[in-house]
Amino acid sequence: MEIQWYPGHMTKAMRQMSEDMKLIDLVIELVDARVPVSGRNPDLERLGTGKARLLLLNKSDLSDAKENERWKKHFQEQGLQTVLLDAQKNTGMNEIKAAIRVACSEKIERDRRRGIKNRPVRAMVVGIPNVGKSTFINSFAKKAVAKTGNKPGVTKGKQWIRLDPTLELLDTPGVLWPKFEDPTVGLHLAMIGTINDEILQKEELAMECLSFLKQEYPGKIAQRYELSEEEDTPALLLGVAQRLGCLKKGGEPDLDRASRLLIDDLRSGRLGKLSIEKL
Ligand code: G4P
Repeated sequence: MEIQWYPGHMTKAMRQMSEDMKLIDLVIELVDARVPVSGRNPDLERLGTGKARLLLLNKSDLSDAKENERWKKHFQEQGLQTVLLDAQKNTGMNEIKAAIRVACSEKIERDRRRGIKNRPVRAMVVGIPNVGKSTFINSFAKKAVAKTGNKPGVTKGKQWIRLDPTLELLDTPGVLWPKFEDPTVGLHLAMIGTINDEILQKEELAMECLSFLKQEYPGKIAQRYELSEEEDTPALLLGVAQRLGCLKKGGEPDLDRASRLLIDDLRSGRLGKLSIEKL
């Protein structure tokens, strides 16, 4: 399944972010904990070269706890300050300030040597669309300062958010990159809902989801839809349609609707905590 999605406003956003790099000390990158590889924009990595970095593995409530710990260790071993986060429930927030101090220790020490007091750390919050940037900023600031929304790419415009005298955040729009070299990247991003659903082939995506579940999380399909996992994926999708009562006029199975419901079950955690990418 070949997926590409790179709306024009993302090019403009990247240009602006590249400009704003001059203004900041730290890049706070949010990554979906279910896809810690495909969910990292290589262009953002290049853009932030030389800056202090903090990686937030967000939506960790939706991924496998065991895998979360493995990924955290993996990134920390690469020298990246990493925190597991559930921005919706605020878990992991306490760790973040400490991690920022560690990530920015060189800047803090430099300021101290130069006798500069109270210059706040300026951080740019980056990540692909829908990863939870607005939710994170809202929770971190403990009030609704950034607009959240359920459509990928909704965060627009530049805004600085002063959290306290020590920290200022710059919100940025979610950006992807022009070409996914590896087709599984596009697939994984579609599975978590990064890619605008209007451009996706739902039935094909649903079958990819079924095949992932069968292989990586045996028992989940059987448990939720009471179907035998011995069946092939087209038969399973048909089974899901029947089980969920997705029928067109005349009683024909409505595979489009069944696909949407299945994809939504997977994205929202109703099929359990799933790590799409494992170490
Ligand atoms: P963005 O700025 O990066 O584009 O993302 P945004 O904060 O708008 O979040 C996108 C969706 O992800 C929102 O759901 C948000 O609630 C949800 N979300 C953010 N962080 C977490 C998290 O840690 N765990 C979980 N489970 N969800 C998270 P939504 O469907 O738009 O709205 P709603 O479900 O909050 O009503």
